[in-house]
Amino acid sequence: MTIPFIIAIDGPAASGKGTLSRRLAEAFELPHLDTGLTYRAVAHALLESGQPLNDEDTAVEAAKAIDLGALDPAVLAVHTIGEAASKVAVMSRVRSTLVEQQRKFANSGRGAVLDGRDIGTVVCPNAQVKLYVTASPEVRAERRWKEVQERGILKGMDASFETILSDIRLRDERDMGRADSPLKPAEDAHLLDTSKMDIETAFQTALSIVKSSKPE
Ligand code: CDP
Repeated sequence: MTIPFIIAIDGPAASGKGTLSRRLAEAFELPHLDTGLTYRAVAHALLESGQPLNDEDTAVEAAKAIDLGALDPAVLAVHTIGEAASKVAVMSRVRSTLVEQQRKFANSGRGAVLDGRDIGTVVCPNAQVKLYVTASPEVRAERRWKEVQERGILKGMDASFETILSDIRLRDERDMGRADSPLKPAEDAHLLDTSKMDIETAFQTALSIVKSSKPE
């Protein structure tokens, strides 16, 4: 049996990892899982049913009920769900429940592309290629600002650049500062700073890194 070819992509909010992951998955004809959607789905389920975001038992039940095949990015993209997801994501038993499902996805076929915060460090430490995608907070806030203008994902919230920038900084702090699986590059990750790159340049750079790591 051949070992699944796994591409692990991590990085902070609005670093470009989502677009890069989708395009790499297309290029290598591999299934793609945006693991952020799994945390978002738990947060969404709790918000919808009026449950607190910090009750671990309830959140674990919600995490067990997640169906990876039914994650709807259109519903889950809302800005407030991202914020809520990063609160849910600090709870260890919620993480282990979701990580188990993410690992199954990664290892069930001939390979996969997974993106998130802890793919190279925790979910798939044996991935053949690991990318850590970053950009400065200002550049990421600018990208997110444009995205919310285009997609209307703020739902009536203050959409100013300053608010988005401060949310990004807060989320970085929460994701990098948590005890369980903090956001950080794996030791063997390739660092890709996209601050001065457009998406095409970032994709071509990522593509050549992956190609050079892929067995024939
Ligand atoms: O799209 P964006 O980068 O804003 O967020 P996301 O990737 O959808 O993730 C939302 C939140 O889920 C993050 O801020 C993390 O707190 C959490 N998350 C995580 O802890 N581990 C992952 N593998 C993916 C997301």
